[in-house]
Formats: sequence, structure tokens, C-alpha cells
Amino acid sequence: MLNRVMVLLLATVAAGMVSLSNAGLVELESVPVSSDSQDCLSCHEELHPGIVSAWRQSRHSRITPGEAMQVQGLGLKVSSKEIPERFLNVAVGCAECHTQRAEAHAGTFDHGGYEVHTAVSPKDCATCHTQEADQFSRNLMAHARGNLVENPLYMDLARTIEGRVARKGQQLDFTPADPLTQAESCLHCHGTKLEVMGFKERDTLHGLMDFPVVNGWPNQGVGRKNTDDSLGTCGACHNRHQFSIEMARQPYTCKKCHVGPDVPAYKVYSASRHGNMFSTHGKEWNFTNVPWTVGEDFTAPTCASCHVSLLADPAGNEIVPRTHQMTDRLPWRIFGLIYAHPHPVSPDTSIIRNDEGLPLPTNFDGTTAKDFLINASTMAERKENMSTVCRSCHGSAWVDVFWERFEQTVQTTNADTLEATKIMTDIWKSGYAVNHLAGGSPFDEAIERRWSDIWLFYANHIRFASAMAGGGDYGVFANGRYHITKEIMELNEWLTTQKKVKGGQEGKE
Ligand code: HEC
Ligand code: HEC
Ligand code: HEC
Ligand code: HEC
Ligand code: HEC
Ligand code: HEC
Ligand code: HEC
Ligand code: HEC
Repeated sequence: MLNRVMVLLLATVAAGMVSLSNAGLVELESVPVSSDSQDCLSCHEELHPGIVSAWRQSRHSRITPGEAMQVQGLGLKVSSKEIPERFLNVAVGCAECHTQRAEAHAGTFDHGGYEVHTAVSPKDCATCHTQEADQFSRNLMAHARGNLVENPLYMDLARTIEGRVARKGQQLDFTPADPLTQAESCLHCHGTKLEVMGFKERDTLHGLMDFPVVNGWPNQGVGRKNTDDSLGTCGACHNRHQFSIEMARQPYTCKKCHVGPDVPAYKVYSASRHGNMFSTHGKEWNFTNVPWTVGEDFTAPTCASCHVSLLADPAGNEIVPRTHQMTDRLPWRIFGLIYAHPHPVSPDTSIIRNDEGLPLPTNFDGTTAKDFLINASTMAERKENMSTVCRSCHGSAWVDVFWERFEQTVQTTNADTLEATKIMTDIWKSGYAVNHLAGGSPFDEAIERRWSDIWLFYANHIRFASAMAGGGDYGVFANGRYHITKEIMELNEWLTTQKKVKGGQEGKE
């Protein structure tokens, strides 16, 4: 790679008037704004000072795509090789994002002569950030909405969690949640579908104006379906209108969605040694440099360092490339459905069918729907990608033992889930609860909830504690092994008691 001084010198000659930014990149002192965007600013400066000042602080207002493309080496932030002429020599302003690809967006409205759409989508960003948009589309996250709503079994689970419950006779009856509740619940993270319902006149400071009425908006869910039918939102991690890399690299950004008892990544990270170091020394670290230099810019990883970031050594050599396809560094899907398993091949998991014909990546007996999952050599490649990150701070013996313990944890938690599922299957077969095979749901009875807690909460806690390098208590007493064994004891005792009382023949419902 060219060293930074050389990059700056070359860029200085090319750009004329430049000054240095602390990131070691070029930055124009004054960047021309297109006349369209100046028009937007003339009203919105007063209407939305918050939006305009966030944009002024962003790199989009401070460097033109043409300038950005001249950066050589790892500091290059704009991945598109060709960017249409009209964008090259102006700042990326309001009009550059909100009026491009107007014909592709169902929600486009006439706004004082401009064809504007509100929900700027990954395909709009792709004009300048092709690589990030391509990679993100191959990520589970971009498909998070479809992976839930196109899967009848998962929607059945959703119904028993977010749906309306009413008592009918002795039974409880669950009906699916209404759209407003869904947007507040599962789809808050997984993403809503933006649907243009029509247009409505609003009385504004600038008189009557027409705006679209969009069901499902606002929403920043990772797998949102947009008004141009593209999937996902970059805004889930990149806050508008600052779009700062600094925020994307902080663990708090991921915490919004990765914190619950089912997906406790943040909790476990914040209790781990890596998280302790981030809380103690993070204030002194540099979160804006690109590439991100291990040792110089930071000394312990955040979520981004292990899962996404382009990392370099102090000599400027690349350690790992940036990836918005986070599965590049993940051999295992540790989120149990209902067992941990190798990652799915396609990010669209709604296409998976197990041996029983259910849309699940594993069978109830613990084996996998292997045709839909990555093979051993892909797993090995991905493990090596992640290990390369670890080895920038740890010796290989440390890293190898880490994987050995982690993979053992995957096996033992799967074995616990299997024992629990055997007991549950006995309960269903004995008729003490009614599952999907008998025309019911495997999720809507109290005893079934105890079974699902085992794989959804406790097995996941133990695996995340192991994967995120040691949120110690989360693997044992805080929703960990203590709870798995306790729940298995109680599940078993419940079944034994039922058999004593009912003698094993009559069912419910
Ligand atoms: C004549 C003044 C004016 C100009 C010029 C103008 N806007 Fe607006 N814009 C408004 C007003 C007023 C609103 C409504 C604000 C509200 O409802 O709080 C609005 C709302 C919006 C919204 C939100 C729409 C929604 O779905 O609620 C977007 C996005 C937007 N403008 C973008 C732009 C862009 C991009 C430009 C330049 C191409 C622009 N505006 C130019 C006055 C203007
Ligand atoms: C880099 C692209 C980009 C640029 C530049 C940009 N926007 Fe946006 N804007 C977005 C995104 C992304 C959203 C989030 C919309 C969504 O997906 O829900 C948004 C949302 C908005 C909204 C609705 C927000 C709300 O809370 O109601 C308004 C209004 C708006 N932008 C106005 C502007 C104005 C004015 C400018 C210029 C100062 C501007 N935007 C520049 C991408 C951009
Ligand atoms: C017309 C081109 C263009 C479009 C469209 C565009 N960007 Fe950018 N983006 C840029 C340029 C230019 C930079 C600054 C590059 C530099 O500093 O070298 C940038 C930088 C960024 C950065 C890095 C910021 C930092 O702090 O280092 C992020 C993140 C980003 N853009 C996200 C987005 C997202 C998300 C969208 C869509 C909502 C988007 N961009 C749309 C051109 C664009
Ligand atoms: C706070 C954010 C959040 C909410 C709310 C949320 N989820 Fe999730 N969901 C996640 C995350 C994060 C993952 C990925 C976990 C992982 O990979 O470790 C996930 C993954 C899933 C998956 C796996 C999908 C697949 O095939 O890959 C299912 C199923 C699921 N969630 C169901 C639900 C249901 C049902 C609800 C509502 C009752 C819900 N989620 C609400 C964040 C959320
Ligand atoms: C708006 C919510 C949200 C935010 C913010 C978010 N995620 Fe996710 N993430 C999800 C959901 C939902 C899934 C599960 C998708 C599925 O299984 O269909 C997921 C899945 C994942 C996965 C599984 C692999 C894959 O291909 O997607 C990883 C790894 C991940 N997220 C890491 C991160 C990191 C790191 C951050 C922060 C930089 C982050 N996420 C921010 C909601 C979010
Ligand atoms: C799940 C969180 C997440 C989502 C969603 C996401 N990003 Fe990022 N993005 C990150 C992280 C983390 C970084 C920092 C990477 C690094 O340190 O190298 C980043 C960095 C970037 C950069 C900065 C590149 C540079 O060299 O400075 C750009 C541009 C970018 N993302 C564009 C996008 C676009 C476009 C989308 C939507 C298609 C998107 N991102 C969606 C997490 C995300
Ligand atoms: C030290 C590096 C490291 C850090 C820091 C880290 N992770 Fe992980 N993460 C891993 C490893 C290793 C795995 C397990 C590998 C696998 O699943 O194949 C993992 C697994 C995951 C998974 C499960 C993926 C799946 O498909 O089931 C998610 C989601 C995740 N991490 C999110 C996060 C979030 C959010 C943070 C920050 C709060 C974070 N990680 C911090 C290394 C890290
Ligand atoms: C940027 C440097 C850096 C990276 C990258 C990194 N670590 Fe660490 N890690 C550290 C430091 C520093 C410590 C603290 C050592 C101490 O406490 O003395 C640590 C501690 C640990 C611990 C000990 C936890 C405990 O509480 O005992 C484990 C396990 C670990 N790391 C595993 C990993 C794995 C696995 C990866 C890759 C997935 C990784 N680390 C990546 C810097 C890093």
C-alpha cells in the first residue's frame, strides 16, 4: 500500500485546495453544493436544523465523490468504480440521496417541482457504495423480515408472544398481532414492509403540501422492505444524517437489537474482558481512522472489529478486509433453531425444509437439514477468517483452545436441548400437550414455554458467553447452565406427575 503521506501529496495535487483531516484523508475546505440541494437547504435549514447540522457534520457534506475516489489504498471509502457524472463534483446533499432513482420508489412525491422519496434505500446508497450494498444483501440481516414473516412456524411463535390473548372457556386463544403492534414488537428489529397507501395533504409552514402515507414507516429494522422493493436498511447501523463510521464501530449500536435473553451478544460482550477494556480505555481509542489499526487505534475488539471491520497492522498491511456480509467470519449459527448448526447457505432461510418438512434448519432429533447448510470446508474457511482477527492480539495456542472449548459448548448445549426435546416429545405423545402434528401449536401451552425457554434463552446464553470470549456468569448462573439443568429437572418431574395422575392416556383440548 502507498503510505499516507504519498496519498495526501497525490490528492493535494489533484484537488488543489485541501487541508488535512485527523483521519489522514483529504478534505476540501469548501465543497460545492448542487443547486437542487441548495434549494432543499433553503427551507429545511429552518424546518429541521437537527437534520441539516447532522448532515453538515457528515463526510457527505465535506468531500465530493470525485475527490473521495482518488484516495489510494486501504483508506478508500467509496467502493463504486463508476459514479454518474452529476454526482462527481458536488457534495452528497439532500437532493443527491432523496431524488435519485425517483422512478424506482413507489413513495416518490412531487415536492415543489422535485421528485422526492423519503426512505433512502440500500440501492440508493449503492450508487457510491456498491460493495457494501452487495455484501449486505447476502447477509442474513438484509433478509431478517422475510426470514420471520415467510416462515409459518416462526410466525406461530410470534403469535404466542406478541399476539392478543383471550380466555375461551378453559382455554387460552391467541390471535396474531395487529400491524401497529407488530411494528413495535418483532418487526421493530426484523423490519417492516413499507407500503404506500396513497397521498395526503398536510398544512405546513410553507402552506399545503402533498405527502405519501406509508404503512410500516418509520422503521429502522435491519431487514425492512423498502419502497423500491430492496431489502434492509443501512440506517440500522448508520445513523442519518451523520452516517458516522464512529457510531457503527461502537458496541452500543448493535446493542439496540442484540441484547435480549434470546440474543445476548451485547450483555455478554459488556461483561467480557474485551468489553471491560472498551469501557476503561475506549475513550482514548480512535474510532474514525480508516483502515482501523490494531494496537495504534485500539487494543481490544468491539463487535465491529471481530465481525465487520477492515483491520490493518501499524505498517499499513491489511489483516482482514472489511465485510458487510458478516457470515464471512462465522462458521456456526449459534442462535438455536432449535439446535446450533452450521450457517445456512442462503441468507433467505425461509426456503429451508428439514426432514419432517418443517421450515427449520434442524430436525427435532438434533440432526440438521444439511442440504441447506454450509459444508465443512466453508466452515473451516470462515473459522480461519475469524481466527486471523484474534491472532492480531493473541497467540495461536490461545485461539485454538478458544475454538475447542466453544465447539464443545455447541455440542453440549445441543445435547441438553435434545434431552429436553425428548421429554417434551413424550409429553406430546402422551397427550398432555398438543403440538403441530396434532393440529395445535408447539408454543402455546405453559409447559411448551418451559421447553422453548431451554433452547431459546438458556442454550443461547451459554453459547454466546462462550463465543464472545467469556461473559462468565452468563454461561453458568445468569441464565446459563444452572437454568438448563433446573428446567430439564422440572420438565421431567412435570411429566412424571402427569403420568401418575392421569395414567398416560387422555389428552387435552
Ligand atoms: C419550499 C420549501 C421546501 C423545499 C424547497 C424543500 N422542502 Fe422538503 N419539506 C418541506 C416541508 C414544509 C416539509 C414538511 C415538514 C413536516 O411535515 O414537518 C418537507 C418534508 C420533506 C421530507 C419528509 C417527507 C415525509 O415523508 O414526511 C423530505 C424527505 C424532504 N422534505 C426532502 C426535501 C428535499 C430532498 C428537497 C430538495 C430537493 C426539499 N425537501 C425541498 C419544505 C420544503
Ligand atoms: C446519504 C444520503 C442522505 C442524504 C445526503 C440526506 N438524507 Fe435525508 N434521509 C436519508 C435516510 C437514509 C433517511 C431515513 C429514511 C428512512 O429510511 O426511514 C433520511 C430521512 C430524512 C427525512 C425524514 C426524517 C424524519 O425523522 O422525519 C427528512 C425530512 C430528510 N431525510 C431530509 C433531508 C435533508 C433536508 C437533507 C439535506 C440536508 C438530507 N435529508 C440529506 C438519507 C439521506
Ligand atoms: C452520491 C454518492 C453517495 C451516496 C448516494 C451515498 N454516499 Fe456515503 N459516502 C460518499 C462519500 C463521497 C463519502 C466520503 C468518503 C471519504 O471521506 O473519503 C461517503 C462516506 C460514507 C460513510 C463513511 C463515513 C465515515 O465517517 O467515515 C458511510 C458510513 C456512508 N457514506 C454511508 C452511506 C449510506 C448509508 C448511504 C445511503 C443512505 C450513502 N452513504 C449514500 C458518497 C455517497
Ligand atoms: C430487539 C430486536 C429483536 C426483536 C424485537 C426480535 N428479534 Fe428475532 N432476532 C433478533 C436478532 C439479533 C436475531 C439474530 C440472532 C443471532 O444470529 O444470534 C434474531 C433472529 C431471529 C430468528 C432466526 C431467523 C432465521 O431464520 O435466521 C427468529 C425465528 C426470530 N428472531 C424470531 C423473532 C420473533 C418471533 C420475534 C417477536 C416475538 C422477534 N424475533 C423479535 C432480534 C430481534
Ligand atoms: C435494527 C436491529 C439490528 C441492529 C442495529 C444490528 N443487528 Fe445484527 N441482526 C439483527 C437481526 C434481526 C438478525 C437476524 C437475521 C435473521 O436471522 O434473519 C441479525 C443477525 C446478525 C448476525 C448473524 C449473521 C448474519 O448474516 O446476519 C450478526 C453476526 C450480527 N447480526 C451482527 C451485528 C453487529 C456486529 C451489529 C452492530 C454493528 C448489528 N448486528 C446490528 C438485527 C440487528
Ligand atoms: C449491521 C450494521 C451495519 C449495517 C446494517 C450497515 N453497515 Fe456499513 N458499516 C458497519 C460497520 C461496523 C462499519 C465499520 C467498518 C470498519 O471499521 O471497517 C461500516 C462501515 C461502512 C462504510 C465506511 C467505509 C469506509 O471505508 O469508511 C460505508 C461506506 C458503509 N458502511 C456503507 C454501508 C451501506 C451502504 C449499508 C447498507 C447497504 C451499510 N453500510 C449497512 C456496519 C453496518
Ligand atoms: C472477540 C471477537 C468478538 C467480539 C468482540 C464480538 N463477537 Fe460476536 N462472535 C464472535 C465469535 C467467535 C462468534 C462465534 C462464531 C460462530 O458463530 O461461528 C460470534 C458470534 C456472534 C453472533 C452469532 C451469529 C450466529 O449466526 O448465530 C452474533 C449475532 C454476534 N456474534 C454479534 C456480536 C455483537 C452484537 C457483538 C458486540 C456486542 C459481538 N458479537 C462481539 C466473535 C466476537
Ligand atoms: C485488538 C486486540 C484483540 C483482538 C482482536 C482479540 N482479543 Fe481477546 N483479548 C485481548 C486483550 C487485550 C485481552 C485481555 C487480556 C488480559 O486480561 O490480560 C483479551 C482477552 C481474551 C480472552 C480472555 C477472557 C477472560 O475473561 O479470561 C479470551 C478468551 C479472548 N480474548 C479471546 C479472543 C478471541 C477468540 C478473539 C477473536 C475472535 C479475540 N480474543 C480477539 C485483545 C484482543
